[in-house]
Amino acid sequence: MSVSEILDVVATAAPEIRSGLPGRRTKIDEQNRSGERQLAADVWADELLGDRLAAVDSVGAYASEERDEVENVGDGYLVAVDPLDGSSNLRSNNPMGTVVGVYDDDLPTTGRSLVAAAFVLYGPITTMVVARDGSTTEYVVEAGDRRDVGEIALPEEPTVYGFGGRVPDWPAGVADYVETIEGELKLRYGGAMIADVSQVLTYGGIFAYPMLQSRSSGKLRILFEGAPIAYIVESAGGSSSDGTRSLLDVEVTEVHQRTPVFVGNADLVDRLEATV
Ligand code: F6P
Repeated sequence: MSVSEILDVVATAAPEIRSGLPGRRTKIDEQNRSGERQLAADVWADELLGDRLAAVDSVGAYASEERDEVENVGDGYLVAVDPLDGSSNLRSNNPMGTVVGVYDDDLPTTGRSLVAAAFVLYGPITTMVVARDGSTTEYVVEAGDRRDVGEIALPEEPTVYGFGGRVPDWPAGVADYVETIEGELKLRYGGAMIADVSQVLTYGGIFAYPMLQSRSSGKLRILFEGAPIAYIVESAGGSSSDGTRSLLDVEVTEVHQRTPVFVGNADLVDRLEATV
């Protein structure tokens, strides 16, 4: 069974997904399982990735943030995909991504069952970041080509922070924490997890979509976003938490389960964990 085959399929699809975005910026009359209005691009990217991944011999199941149920497609790895993370950025033409988690246990399962995780970032250029076997590597992706541009290690001296959610909806501990780190770090928040985490991987710092007063489990989904991104950041030398434990240790009982997400330099994540 080959994890590389799965990652190659995602890399090959990335330039196609990117080139199909311009005509798919409008909302359609459907909601995904998490209650968000879908864009034509969400549905199209999901169908493209679903078809391609289901055709890979080493894929046993396909789960997507855009589909209600896990689809069994054979024997092999269980692949969870957020086809267009941050797709609301499409209207304003800001960056977005694709997130992929490759699990070796029936879904839903914890992040400890991940054998690889990756994201594609549709920024000024298309990059793909892959975590496997304890390290994280960045690639530049162009049609027919995935070029290794080096291993990623979180800088020891952090520079940036980005937190999602409305400030009045944050619990007091989160607000206190942000007030403190405002004096230490620069704010970088763009509204797409992949793009915001990429800043943290590049410059060091912390990204969080915390628990909210109105929704204690926050906004992001553990299987499609929280666990894969934690796997990537931890493999790059950083840390993750849901407020109590590593995101990789969170028990997952529902496919579309939400979780607070903190990822970044260990010291910053520890301090936030101690405050909430
Ligand atoms: O899960 C979707 C998502 O777009 C994430 O990529 C991003 O971090 C978050 O939602 C942005 O939410 P908000 O619009 O509340 O800042």
